[in-house]
Amino acid sequence: MTFAATVLTLYPEMFPGPLGVSLAGRALEQGKWSLDAVQIRDFAIDKHRTVDDTPAGGGAGMVLRVDVLAKAIDFARAQFLPDAGREIILSLSKDGGGVLSGVRDVAEDLNVPPHHPADGPPPCAGEERPVIALTPRGKPLTQARVRELAAGPGVILLCGRFEGFDERIFAGRQVEEVSVGDIVLSGGEPAALMLLDACIRLLPGVMGAASSGAEESFENGLLEYPHYTRPQEWEGRTIPEVLRSGDHAKIAEWRKRRSEDDTRLRRPDLWERHSGVRVQSASGAQHEVQDD
Ligand code: ADE
Repeated sequence: MTFAATVLTLYPEMFPGPLGVSLAGRALEQGKWSLDAVQIRDFAIDKHRTVDDTPAGGGAGMVLRVDVLAKAIDFARAQFLPDAGREIILSLSKDGGGVLSGVRDVAEDLNVPPHHPADGPPPCAGEERPVIALTPRGKPLTQARVRELAAGPGVILLCGRFEGFDERIFAGRQVEEVSVGDIVLSGGEPAALMLLDACIRLLPGVMGAASSGAEESFENGLLEYPHYTRPQEWEGRTIPEVLRSGDHAKIAEWRKRRSEDDTRLRRPDLWERHSGVRVQSASGAQHEVQDD
C-alpha cells in the first residue's frame, strides 16, 4: 500500500523540498509513498483568487477563509475515494477542469484542474485519510501518533500562513490540529515536512534492516543513549571504556543507565511520565503523573 500524502498549501513549490532527497526521496521514486502538493488558492471563490480576510473582532494579520479551505479539503478527500474518486480525478484532468454531477458534492463546484500524482501507483482506495492542520495551537506531535499515521493510508495536511485558520474548519471538516513544538513558524509547511519525514522513515522497506527504530529516542518513552565511533581518542576526549569491552551485558546496562540519566536531566517531562513517580510541581502541589 502506498502512503498517500496530500498537502494543501499556498506554497506547493516548497514540496517535496528536502523530502525529494536521501531516504524519503528514494522512497518517493520507488512509489513507497506519494505526494500531491495542492494550491489552496485554486479553490478561491472570487475572481481575485482571495484566500484570506481580516479577523472578526479586529486585530493584526489575516485569517484563511473557511469556505476556501473546505473546498480544498473536500477535493483532497474526493481524490482517493474508491472508484467514484478516481472517476472525478480522471475526468477533470482530461477536461482541464469541468463540472461533474452525480458523483459527490465537492465535484460540482470544482473549477480547477486537479493536482494528483498522474501516473503514480494506485492510491489506497476505501480508507479515509486523516486531515491534519499544522498550527502552534495544536496537540503536540508525538512518536506514537507518527507511528499510527505511518501505519495508515496516508494524510491530508493543511498548511496555514498569516494569522491562521478560521476556527470553524476544524469541527466542520473533522480536522485534527497538530503542533510540532512550542515555537512559532512562519507557516505550516516546515511542520508538514517534519511530520511527513517522521512518517516516511517508518514505512515498510524505507529504513532497511539495519534500523528497526526499536531503540530510538521516544520509542520506550526515553531519550536514546549516546553514540560513538572511531577514532578512539579525539582532541583528548575518549570513547567510554565499556563500549570497547566486548561485554554485551555490561554495554546494555551502560546504555540503559545513560538513556535514563540523560532523560532525567534533559527531559524531566518525559522522565516523570516514564517513571510514574509522584512529583512536586512548581506550585508546591503534589500530583500523580499519568500516562496518556
Ligand atoms: N505553524 C506555525 N508554527 C507551527 C508549529 N509550531 N507547529 C505546527 N505548525 C505551525
